[in-house]
Amino acid sequence: MAKTLVIGAFGQIGSELVPALRAKYGRENIIAVDIREPHPPEEMEPYEICDATDKGEIESLIVHNQVDTVYHLASLLSASGEKNPDNAWRLNVKSLKIVLDLAVKHKLKKVFWPSSIAAFGPTTPRVNTPQHTILEPTTMYGVTKVSGELLCQYYHHKYGLDVRSLRYPGLISYKAPPGGGTTDYAVGIFYDALQKGKYECFVRPDTILPMMYMDDAIEGTIKLMEAPVEKIAVRTSYNLAAISFSAAELAAEVKKHLPKFTCTYVPDARQKIADSWPQSVDDSQARKDWGWKHTYGVAEMTTIMIKELKKKLGIRK
Ligand code: SER
Repeated sequence: MAKTLVIGAFGQIGSELVPALRAKYGRENIIAVDIREPHPPEEMEPYEICDATDKGEIESLIVHNQVDTVYHLASLLSASGEKNPDNAWRLNVKSLKIVLDLAVKHKLKKVFWPSSIAAFGPTTPRVNTPQHTILEPTTMYGVTKVSGELLCQYYHHKYGLDVRSLRYPGLISYKAPPGGGTTDYAVGIFYDALQKGKYECFVRPDTILPMMYMDDAIEGTIKLMEAPVEKIAVRTSYNLAAISFSAAELAAEVKKHLPKFTCTYVPDARQKIADSWPQSVDDSQARKDWGWKHTYGVAEMTTIMIKELKKKLGIRK
């Protein structure tokens, strides 16, 4: 059986997508690779260490494992990208071009690549952001996402490559922590609420961003990739939405479970990034084309996060 390669397998999305793909298609059929070791390593076995910007390494993985599908998840997020724009361009765009070229050369069946709400910018309508709209991001991360979307569409039009993509909102999960993103507060709040009873939030309380519980994101990703080819009308990237809330609303939700919890707000450089992104996204095209729907609301997500993080952190009460 042809195999699936997941590049950037131990990041926020990969840590949950790899087990989901293995449960569905068989452990031995999913090759997980990342530039760093997973934690804990035994949960991700088998895996390989590989640099996503090294064309030779990626090509040999494709050829030696008879790969026909690639999920290319390796990426630097928005806040890290602002600290190191060169690295963001190199990792986010160069590695995508490598994967797309190899996909054409080796006639791969399908490629998945994640875009983000970061593809939008301050000139985009901020509420119910349409699928087709102004894309003038002001972060390097956003610039790499728009460039990547256009590259994907180009490879589809020019070479007929079946490349599919989603514009993820902020993703919330208890398994792998996010790193270097602007939406990280929506995860960090749970860790600090449980471990310290308080959280210093780096965006204003009225900051509203689109978010999603990770299980929905994984479900949507697999559903998109399994959809019949004729259902895929968007070849840049599909808007994908679930829930939108302000930082203060999230804090209030956490307080329902932990009544002594307090949240303070000390906006930093990430506020400007958050202010340039939509508050909510119109994903009706994904819902219509391939049947996307989300399951988790804010209350369910909060309940699960608190319950599971308590277990993970060994907190009894
Ligand atoms: N979660 C990402 C970030 O905050 C957005 O794609 O950078």
